Amino acid sequence: MSGAKRPPSPGGVPLMGHGLAFARDPWSAMREWATEDDVVALEFPGRSMYMVTDPHLIERMLVSDQAQFTLSRAQRQTFAGIEDDAVTATEGERWKRLRRALQPAFEWSGVRGYGDRMAERTAAHVADWEPGDRLDLWAEMRQLTLHILGDTLLGVDLTGDEAVVHEAADALVAKTDFRRPGQLLPDWVPTPTQRRFDRAVGDLDDYISAVIADSGPGDATVVGVLLAAHERDEISMAEVQDNLAALLLAGHDSSAVTLTYAWYELSRHPETRERLVAEVEEVLDGDLPGADDFDDLERVQNVVRETLRLYPPAFATSREATEAVTLGGYALPAGAQVMAPQWVLHRDERFWDDPDTFDPTRWERDADRPEYAYFPFSGGPRHCIGMRFARLELVLALATMVDRVDLDVSVDEPLTFTPSLSLRPESDVFATVREV
Ligand code: HEM
Repeated sequence: MSGAKRPPSPGGVPLMGHGLAFARDPWSAMREWATEDDVVALEFPGRSMYMVTDPHLIERMLVSDQAQFTLSRAQRQTFAGIEDDAVTATEGERWKRLRRALQPAFEWSGVRGYGDRMAERTAAHVADWEPGDRLDLWAEMRQLTLHILGDTLLGVDLTGDEAVVHEAADALVAKTDFRRPGQLLPDWVPTPTQRRFDRAVGDLDDYISAVIADSGPGDATVVGVLLAAHERDEISMAEVQDNLAALLLAGHDSSAVTLTYAWYELSRHPETRERLVAEVEEVLDGDLPGADDFDDLERVQNVVRETLRLYPPAFATSREATEAVTLGGYALPAGAQVMAPQWVLHRDERFWDDPDTFDPTRWERDADRPEYAYFPFSGGPRHCIGMRFARLELVLALATMVDRVDLDVSVDEPLTFTPSLSLRPESDVFATVREV
């Protein structure tokens, strides 16, 4: 620790610190601050934070030195009141116990079995789209990914019940928008956003209770897996309930965001779309894809990879230092809030040629870059538990869709995003169905 200095703080303004620049344009601000150094100190009204943009230091924080880091304050605040007893919001031994209880539902051997259903649900979803139809693309994609989640992992037909989940997700996103003036107020202050959140959480809880009442510990679903763990006295009913809330929300929003931006980019890059269609036709020959086709759908995988690079649904991963640590020669005190922004690393020209350009073929060329220059699913023991599920779903859903439809996507340029729980589009994304 001796000799370590304080990280630099790139020009903030009095009182607001870095908050003003972040509120105006978080996406440019984060990239600008990162040019100062690999570790910088940031001041926001009511909170201090460090931003780390060296992949090796991120690897230390998430993997090799992870014992020195725990959930960040932002993570705790985000999930308070909705996922208090879930894997997303717990730490230490309790988190380990919950992660262990959930893990059997996410083994590849089980997840790959969902492949056929993922493709069937996607094909059914687009079957009614007619050339000339104008779609709210974000609404369509979140409906699709929620239905896929229900049909597979959860074993619940969510048709007709989408609103209760979507309203909870929207209320959570509104509550955690980093620009919201009331964001630092305690949750007991009845702001309109907080009241909306409380109402939505109550409705979601009722819905999940009904799902649990209809299920049993023998069911081959994540509900069954959790109920079986409860029967073995490994987890409480509150933990069953909150983990299902966590999965309903985390399990569809990020995938919907990814499919929306994939279509946006394909619409702007017809040559990429043609290469994709050629691969899909060759691999599938008119059939629906399944998990066995995953490895052969290389171009589709690369479109998904590239979309997650440019539009990482989780735009930053954060942690809290449990003790004083030295990172990159800089001293961080115990309790330091540290953010590793995927948004910045994924567009850093030290690691990517032409970083702002959508170019899935970059993944066909060998590139020597540090592992944590790209980490859409985070890393280390707390990495996304749904990673394999999400990758399979995204590749099979995209392959199924491009084989059946083409979309002309229109947005207000430049595309802007909500700086919240997931990188949602801030304004409408419409798509017109084209003849294929
Ligand atoms: C494109 C899709 C997805 C992306 C980009 C994504 C990304 C992430 C990231 C970055 C984390 C945070 C890890 C950390 O703090 O280090 C996370 C956690 C998590 N994700 Fe995902 N995720 C996706 C899809 C899913 C799906 C489909 C599910 C479930 C079906 C899921 C369930 C979870 C859960 C439960 C956690 C908390 C894990 C823990 O704290 O132990 N995610 N995800």
